[in-house]
Amino acid sequence: MQAPDWDARYAEKPQWSAGPNAVIASLLESLPPGRAVDLAAGEGRHALWLAGVGWEVTAVDFSAAGLDRGRAAPGADAVRWVVADVLTWDPGAVDLDLVLVAYLHLPEADTVDLLTRAVGWLRPGGRLVVLGHDVQNLTRGVGGPQEPAILHSVERLAPVAALLAVDRLEQVSRTTPAGTALDTLLVGRRAAGSPPAPVPR
Ligand SMILES: C[S@@+](CC[C@H](N)C(=O)[O-])C[C@H]1O[C@@H](n2cnc3c(N)ncnc32)[C@H](O)[C@@H]1O
Repeated sequence: MQAPDWDARYAEKPQWSAGPNAVIASLLESLPPGRAVDLAAGEGRHALWLAGVGWEVTAVDFSAAGLDRGRAAPGADAVRWVVADVLTWDPGAVDLDLVLVAYLHLPEADTVDLLTRAVGWLRPGGRLVVLGHDVQNLTRGVGGPQEPAILHSVERLAPVAALLAVDRLEQVSRTTPAGTALDTLLVGRRAAGSPPAPVPR
């Protein structure tokens, strides 16, 4: 889906719950606040929540309609909202404590290229957190995009995990009103003293 498709979807109705995904909240709630980027932030549920607990957050998405909904939410002034394509956007010279990528589904090569660049934006010890629909969700789960080529899996995220000190790389289940959904979760830290991530293809 392109930006106009997402704009239309957001214009139709709010898409996601106001609060953060439970897995993301449980992973991040005990971390000391720092500087974060929420890539493909949508309506900003994670960016708003992070800002509310003290993080300095930049929320990036190519859907102006999605970000506008976030901008209208309480606490929005604490978030920097950026309308941009994550495939070309760059934060500049920053040492981020966190890059969060939740439910962004792109062709596999684009995903690996983007996440590889994102590792390079982290300070040593900074975290990359990726959560999205697992490819097995198509056969054993509910909801989410139905195109296998854009879904995550442990194997598909392995090249990115190889750049990190990995805390979690696994399939996780999520309870939804329609049944159990299957997601892939990657959590890793940029190793101290590690060289910059390789330049993507
Ligand atoms: C399923 S939503 C997830 C939103 C948010 N991360 C969340 O978990 O609530 C996917 C988002 O990815 C955005 N997106 C998809 N491709 C993008 C791209 N190339 N650049 C920027 N945003 C993109 C869409 O506009 C949409 O807001």
